[in-house]
Amino acid sequence: MHIRAAVALRPNAPLSLEDLTLDGPGPGEVLIRMAAAGLCHTDLGFMDGTRDWSDWPIVTGHEGSGVVLDCGPGVTTLKPGDHVVVAALPECGVCPSCRNPKTNICDHYNDGTVPKHFRLGGKPIAAFCDLGTFADHAVVREIQLTKIRADAPLDAVCCVSCAGATGVGAAIHTAQMEKGSSAVVFGLGGIGLNVVAGARIAGARMIIGVDTNEAKRATALRAGVTHFVNPLDVDGDLVGYLTELTGGGADYAFECAGNEAVLNQAIACTHRGWGTVVMIGILPGAGLMHIPQRSILAGRTLKGSLLGNVKMRSQLPQLVDWFMEGNLPLDRLISHRIKHDQINDGFDLMVAGKSVRTIIEYD
Ligand code: APR
Ligand code: ZN
Repeated sequence: MHIRAAVALRPNAPLSLEDLTLDGPGPGEVLIRMAAAGLCHTDLGFMDGTRDWSDWPIVTGHEGSGVVLDCGPGVTTLKPGDHVVVAALPECGVCPSCRNPKTNICDHYNDGTVPKHFRLGGKPIAAFCDLGTFADHAVVREIQLTKIRADAPLDAVCCVSCAGATGVGAAIHTAQMEKGSSAVVFGLGGIGLNVVAGARIAGARMIIGVDTNEAKRATALRAGVTHFVNPLDVDGDLVGYLTELTGGGADYAFECAGNEAVLNQAIACTHRGWGTVVMIGILPGAGLMHIPQRSILAGRTLKGSLLGNVKMRSQLPQLVDWFMEGNLPLDRLISHRIKHDQINDGFDLMVAGKSVRTIIEYD
């Protein structure tokens, strides 16, 4: 079929809206009509040259929601008309990793078996994470689609598939925060605000949001932080200030800014003996980090996760329920809604720091 997609043709270029053809769904695959797609920093990396990638052109976009139009042979869990969100991490449900409660990284993630379905000028082209939500239609593996309740609005829940899972999951599944615990969240963008929401659901007693952008203060307080700290307002040492505020160190800290110095602040502000630090932000370049070994030897734990350890087909619907029950304000994170052909304007807003989450609403 003929479709339209915003394509990254080469590095260091804006996306280009192109007419493509889309191959029909093969065995275990599903054709979806995209309803909404979220713009994420990870997609920006293909446009600003920071992402190491060789297979150009590529249809990017890995956060989105849609409606099933057609199913290939052997698809058993979805049918035309079902509402779905896409999953950058598959969940086959049967591999050793899927059966291990400790991880959400299915053995079929990036297994190199997924054929290319998008064609530009007749030539097959890549899809980011085997998804490509910046196309108005896509063919996706059944194991990378999560069926969601039909009464959930497709625009707002689109953001659960990346920002929501990553942030909420980091607090609940990766950190496994307890009721009454304390957390410091560094960087209050779309990810950090979802960490705050997860910490609230976990029943945290104290949630300190830290951001150098004063404009985040109001958003953070609305999202439910108990304290907002702008490091630029702190006289002297930020870590010392946070240690005092938390009565000796936080139980948990989350790095959501993608900055090595901030990661070190996050580690240092947790309580020695038991503090847990979850790193979420992606460091620039090769991502090498320098951290003092003694801070970890002193009984702290440094953890990482992809999509917040959320098993994307079996555990993600819980987040949609929390949203529907009013406990997860996904819709409040949507600062801008744009049309497909305004996608580059959406990325400009991100680069300028003017948006929290921008979504494309497909016609
Ligand atoms: N201290 C505290 N906050 C900071 C600092 C700092 N030194 N530097 C930047 N920030 C804040 C920014 O002001 C911004 O509010 O971090 C926030 C980052 O938010 P976004 O840019 O909206 O990023 P987000 O989409 O939330 O992603 C966060 O995760 O996916 C990765 O690469 C992404 O590293 C990024 C991180
Ligand atoms: Zn699996």
